[in-house]
Amino acid sequence: MAGGGFTAASAGARASQYESKMTIYVVITCIIAASGGLMFGYDVGVSGGVTSMDEFLAKFFPSVLKKKQASNSSSVYCDYDSQTLQLFTSSLYLAALISTFFASTVTRRYGRKMTMLIGGLFFDAGVVLNGAAQDLVMLIIGRILLGCGVGFVNQAVPLFLSEIAPAHLRGGLNILFQLNVTIGILVAELVNYGALKVKPWGWRISLSLAGVPGVVLTLGSFLLVETPNSLVERGYVEEAKSVLRRIRGTDNIHAEFEDLVEASNTAKQVKHPFRNLIKRRNLPQLVITCCLQFFQQFTGINAIMFYAPVIFKTLGFGDDASLYSSVITGGVNVLSTLVSVYSVDKIGRKMLLLEACVQMFISQVAIAILLAHGFKDGQTTLPTSSAIPVVVLICVFVSAFAWSWGPLGWLIASEIFPLETRSAGQSVTVCVNMVFTFVIAQAFLSMLCSFEYGIFLFFASWVVIMGLFTIFFIPETKGIPIEEMEMVWRQHWFWKKIVPDDMPGHGATNEKALELKNVKVAPGEVA
Ligand code: BGC
Repeated sequence: MAGGGFTAASAGARASQYESKMTIYVVITCIIAASGGLMFGYDVGVSGGVTSMDEFLAKFFPSVLKKKQASNSSSVYCDYDSQTLQLFTSSLYLAALISTFFASTVTRRYGRKMTMLIGGLFFDAGVVLNGAAQDLVMLIIGRILLGCGVGFVNQAVPLFLSEIAPAHLRGGLNILFQLNVTIGILVAELVNYGALKVKPWGWRISLSLAGVPGVVLTLGSFLLVETPNSLVERGYVEEAKSVLRRIRGTDNIHAEFEDLVEASNTAKQVKHPFRNLIKRRNLPQLVITCCLQFFQQFTGINAIMFYAPVIFKTLGFGDDASLYSSVITGGVNVLSTLVSVYSVDKIGRKMLLLEACVQMFISQVAIAILLAHGFKDGQTTLPTSSAIPVVVLICVFVSAFAWSWGPLGWLIASEIFPLETRSAGQSVTVCVNMVFTFVIAQAFLSMLCSFEYGIFLFFASWVVIMGLFTIFFIPETKGIPIEEMEMVWRQHWFWKKIVPDDMPGHGATNEKALELKNVKVAPGEVA
């Protein structure tokens, strides 16, 4: 298995000189910061619920409601096909993708804490506009402000978490962000379920409660410490030392502090981190990051996350049953993410990605077959004999995503870039994610209308492509220390042709170490 013994051998060396305790300080700071994940998740989950509420449609999208009620539409799949309705969902992601580039500069110049505070403020302003919305303009401007908040927070929080976390807990804490995203989605679905019963303004409750994680993050960011890395980067060396002592719970921070200063000096030499990203030595990381994010969205996950209640309603479920079913998929999402926290460092990234491809492919094809049969002869609701298996299969699909492409899309991106391009890499990751999240949000309901049940075959085809990409182009990175990651490219059958031989780093010794441990990453190799 790639990296197995090698990891233990070389990771031990320097990292063992770091002393750290899991301090209460780290716990509290991480909880506050991770509320950024709740904020993001809540927004993903809330839109589908409110767009399936008739009172919400009557106020902002009366034509959609009319079309839905005149159940003589050409196809049951087209009831919700409206560009403006989709714009309500997608505008957030468009704003997020643009704002993440500003957030990158703010993160570097003014620190992670300031970026989170600004993100929280944007978010709170968006919540106020949304909760009090009187017309479509207010609603969309509110969504755009929420999007700016999400762009800032998604840039700063993952960086913050990995810089505050002790080295040996970094992977788990990184997935904590994704876990919070899934909890946020579930909470939004539960709130939608309850708010549906509060007529006619239940949707205002749903949109306003997004303010809870928003306010926690905004107020909480005053309590947060700045990360030592950011303090060193901005020249506050003494302050950085004292913060490091506090968060590690020890005075013996010498080794870690030295590495931090060295890494910061190397990073400072890179004047144009974004330009550096497209150099040959960073090309494998860039291509893999972009593909992971693209593929993550083309699994079709957000078609489910955004529009689950709408899909279930389209399939003929009643109001209650639709929201109820989406709560079930939300619950499956959270629980399966926990599977990933547990297994990612044991089974490895590649195996999880591949297993999930098989599971997602089978469930999507089966859903398509059930829908094709269920809606035969102009029927407008799915018979129970097909409806229940469809919900089960959607859960099977969601669980596969949640223990693989969901968290790993973010985790792998965060561990493969060298320090000098890590922050720029994070911006690209967030940006590519938001671009394709936007595309899916904006296009899904129209695609559902034209492809009908074939939409699931469309996503299933992408799953085949991403499976092949995983086999041939993604090396196993389980347990490989971040600073040794460059060797993975040199050993890979394809990427070694791309990266130059004279890459800086810990060259020969580690190459030997990899050879000794017989680490080869060949086409078709699983782990
Ligand atoms: C994705 C989101 C998605 C969520 C679902 C994340 O990894 O980036 O787009 O909504 O997983 O849990």
